[in-house]
Amino acid sequence: MRDEIDEHNRRYFVEDQPLISDADYDALVRELKAIEAEFPELVTPESPTQHVGGFAASQFSEVRHRVPMMSLDNAFGFDELHEWGRRLERRLGAEGGDTSFVCELKIDGFAISITYENGRYVQAATRGNGEVGEDLTANIATVEAIPKKLSGKAPTLLEVRGEIYMPLVAFERLNKRQADAGDRLFANPRNSAAGSVRQKDPSITASRELSLWTYQLGAIEGGPSFTTHMETLDWMRSAGLPVNPEITALGTLDEVYERCRHWQEHRHDLEYEIDGVVVKVDNLRLRAELGFTSKAPRWAIAYKFPPEERTTMLKDIMVSIGRTGKATPFAVLEPVFVGGSTVQLATLHNEDQVKAKDVRPGDTVIVRKAGDVIPEVVKPVLAERPKRLKPWKFPTTCPVCNEPLVRLEGESDTFCTNLECPGQRWARICHFTSRGAMDIEGLGERTVSLFLEHDLIRDPADIYSLDWDRVRGLEGFGEISVTNLQNAIEASKERPLASLLVGLGIRHAGGTVSRVLAKAFGHLDRLTAATEDEIAAVEGVGRIIAHSVREFFDNDGNREVIEKLRRAGVNMTGPEAPSLPQVLEGMSIVVTGTLEGLSREDAEEAIKARGGKSPGSVSKKTTAVVVGEAPGAAKLTKAEELGVPVLEETAFTKLLETGELP
Ligand code: IVH
Repeated sequence: MRDEIDEHNRRYFVEDQPLISDADYDALVRELKAIEAEFPELVTPESPTQHVGGFAASQFSEVRHRVPMMSLDNAFGFDELHEWGRRLERRLGAEGGDTSFVCELKIDGFAISITYENGRYVQAATRGNGEVGEDLTANIATVEAIPKKLSGKAPTLLEVRGEIYMPLVAFERLNKRQADAGDRLFANPRNSAAGSVRQKDPSITASRELSLWTYQLGAIEGGPSFTTHMETLDWMRSAGLPVNPEITALGTLDEVYERCRHWQEHRHDLEYEIDGVVVKVDNLRLRAELGFTSKAPRWAIAYKFPPEERTTMLKDIMVSIGRTGKATPFAVLEPVFVGGSTVQLATLHNEDQVKAKDVRPGDTVIVRKAGDVIPEVVKPVLAERPKRLKPWKFPTTCPVCNEPLVRLEGESDTFCTNLECPGQRWARICHFTSRGAMDIEGLGERTVSLFLEHDLIRDPADIYSLDWDRVRGLEGFGEISVTNLQNAIEASKERPLASLLVGLGIRHAGGTVSRVLAKAFGHLDRLTAATEDEIAAVEGVGRIIAHSVREFFDNDGNREVIEKLRRAGVNMTGPEAPSLPQVLEGMSIVVTGTLEGLSREDAEEAIKARGGKSPGSVSKKTTAVVVGEAPGAAKLTKAEELGVPVLEETAFTKLLETGELP
């Protein structure tokens, strides 16, 4: 579970591409916390429950926060909020009774810290891991709401914490521009805000109409001191910082509940998205008394809104055929507005899911989209089920080719196994031409259908040998569109290996895995020649992926497509074509411990750049093990056991130059 949560954290914080809804993520963390509470001996310092989720990624330089940027503990429901209140009282004793609270909107954006020196904007950084974040000074400077100079008498040093967000109108404008340009749409304002600030080019950030609410101070030197949070916020306002107007000080927890309830109901009256209410102790002396856990202050809590749900009519359940032949049932809904957008279709995943939920066409169903992209049919409203509504049955034949559908024992997915199925061909070719893959403009879903219908193409490689005379004969293909399409197809031949790998549609190998594989192997032929173990040894690639990659390349049909692509002149090399002499070709060199001249990552890069492999563990196939300071004992023992030569740094340097083992 920890690995899973870490992976979701990475997807959310580093890639801005979450795989699951916020509510599902929260549920996972809650489950882990419950397990750890029951078995405290299992808690480790690395557990995601023990540290802030964000990661410092590499593209930007690092900034160490003077005062760490903490996260907040969450309260789901009033019971948990009440428990927090009780804990406060217990810790504060008699004083707890007089605590007053400040309720703030929990802005669904991207946390940043801005540093002012003598009132001048000098730096802005992401939260990162809480201690160290990424330097986004230039990008964040483009956000108009941020004063570049504070008013009044400014402290010599000031860290201001706040949330960058994208107002809803700006989000709609951005997605309209994306759609007009045929680009990928952003999932929600939070992801777009996060993506917009982490751009290489500040002018892109500037075009995104971001804004900011500040809610907290970090380090402060040579400036005023405060006794309450409200006072702090007032001062921040007077200094020209944007502080949200909807902040209220309340005397009792009952009033706090009332406030939370109010915002739960009125969250959509605002011009930006919020996902809860942050409740903070107002008195700063009490705050100091309460202190922090390893991850969050005890003096604040985030009351999270429950995921939004709406009911609508389930008009039908249909089945779509994917590029691997997988038959996925999906719900066709009466359009309903939920979680910030209109939902019309929702996946039902597989046969068992439909059975478990027992949703039937004609049902009124509850639809949810937990502040996220993926709409979900939660369950039917049984009270409203019309009489004699029959349970839905998974079709026995493919809706596209009419061949039987097959579900293997012990598997949850159903497949159309007819390799000739036009539905599969269509999905495979569309996937190949799509933006994340070979990105062939003008060869979208409709054109692919048309070409398939006219038997002009059967697999992705056929795109490169189209009979243009016949294309010219089709409706809508004048000379200009033909030339444009020819150019787009020609240009796609130069795409890097990672795009080609995505395009091939190997199961489990999406963008990230494909980039990792392309980087590790550099050439498609090296990847197709690699064993499952060698593939699995690449960092970021597990057993399941390695197996699926191997299986893909072992398939004759796939090999044939690859040969056709090669003959067509499609590029098969990685991000950087290997420019160094490939002296380590065929060798597998494991690095362990710290070397003097190189970091371990650099050492591994150096090996790969010379055509070698550098897996993370020692096996029979290992050519040599390079040891530095404090090597891993397991690797050394294994090397000894297997009689694998062990090299020190000087011998390694020589090996890199000549490819010869001493
Ligand atoms: S205070 C040490 N106030 O929510 C306390 N955070 O889930 C720091 N957030 O990391 C946070 N609105 O990025 C605070 N009014 C608000 C907030 C807020 C949104 C974010 C912030 C924080 C996250 C925790």
